[in-house]
Amino acid sequence: MKLFDVYPLIPVTIVRAEGCRLWDEKGTEYLDLYGGHAVISIGHSHPHYVKRISEQLSSLGFYSNSIQIPIQQALANKLAEQSCLHEYQLFLVNSGAEANENAIKMASFSTQKSGFISFSGAFHGRTSAAVALTDNPKLIAPCNAREDFHILPWGDLGEVEKVLAQNTIAGILIEGIQGVGGIQVPSPEFLLGLAKLAKQWGVKLILDEVQSGYGRTGRFFAHQWVEGFQPDLITVAKGMGNGFPLGGLLLSPEFKPSCGLLGTTFGGNHVACAAGLAVLEVMEMEKLQANALLLGEKLITALKSIPGVKDVRGKGLMVGIDLDRDAAPVRNDLVNRYKIFTGSAATKETIRVLPPLSIQWNQLHSFVDALTQALNN
Ligand SMILES: Cc1ncc(COP(=O)(O)O)c(C=O)c1O
Repeated sequence: MKLFDVYPLIPVTIVRAEGCRLWDEKGTEYLDLYGGHAVISIGHSHPHYVKRISEQLSSLGFYSNSIQIPIQQALANKLAEQSCLHEYQLFLVNSGAEANENAIKMASFSTQKSGFISFSGAFHGRTSAAVALTDNPKLIAPCNAREDFHILPWGDLGEVEKVLAQNTIAGILIEGIQGVGGIQVPSPEFLLGLAKLAKQWGVKLILDEVQSGYGRTGRFFAHQWVEGFQPDLITVAKGMGNGFPLGGLLLSPEFKPSCGLLGTTFGGNHVACAAGLAVLEVMEMEKLQANALLLGEKLITALKSIPGVKDVRGKGLMVGIDLDRDAAPVRNDLVNRYKIFTGSAATKETIRVLPPLSIQWNQLHSFVDALTQALNN
């Protein structure tokens, strides 16, 4: 059977990984500044993570959400502690798109409306409602297209208010920092303006922290950079499981659960929760959020002085670098010649840097050197 060929592949086969380093089948070493789409938070094959997952797997691999699963509560407690969102409730799922799908559904249940707003450059996943709010027409199949879903200009509160006045909107979905869109940081005025409008019109504000959450920006959630800002719903995935499929929906106290309202077979399974707990424990033990903040600032400063770099955006270890040329050949050069993995973005001149949060300065510095050479040789 052939694989359904949908992925543009880097012609490298990685067979082993540790921390921020990868090795291919010939033993060539690479530096991972992309973490497989921003997934690797605590580093590849962290011993504590491996131990926790292995122990859970050898005692109980899986049983469904029809029994009590205390490790789910342990994960929720740890998440509340580290995010400081003690009042929120947690619903566990398997991926970012599934988290968004459930957030959209909860906003719709709660308001009894069906319309949604997202923004230009948005990426929210590939499932039905999430993809209809993703700003890429190529991904939206006819069965996903929705007339009452509006993708509005980034930062334009006036347009948001115009659509809200139609009285059909259940929620507004926005990334903490846009990832696929090229690392666009929403201004505090934009986020606070959305929160105000959402309250005024009785619609739910959903923060997609799938890529920007879990300590990556130097705060637990990117939106926590904005003082006094509180979303109704928050979605997480990627770094939450460090590669084990795990996602979550955080719901503010206004949402009341009822039996059967949401559900999933695999979401919140024992092994996924063990992975999720290990991630939070390592983040705490190794102070990875502080590392992301410190090294991110140093990296952004260093990148800004490279000839050929036009703009550097981001917070912590979520960094977008705009070049004065197309980024694809430069990224290829970084992999082939300098053995460094980076990410692309929807904007073709952008390189995305999303390394494990455990990265060290000498590793980031070697990237700064390599990029300088790649752009100026
Ligand atoms: C901001 C954001 N939301 C949602 C998703 C979808 O997550 P998943 O691929 O786990 O469904 C992604 C994936 O890149 C993302 O970056």
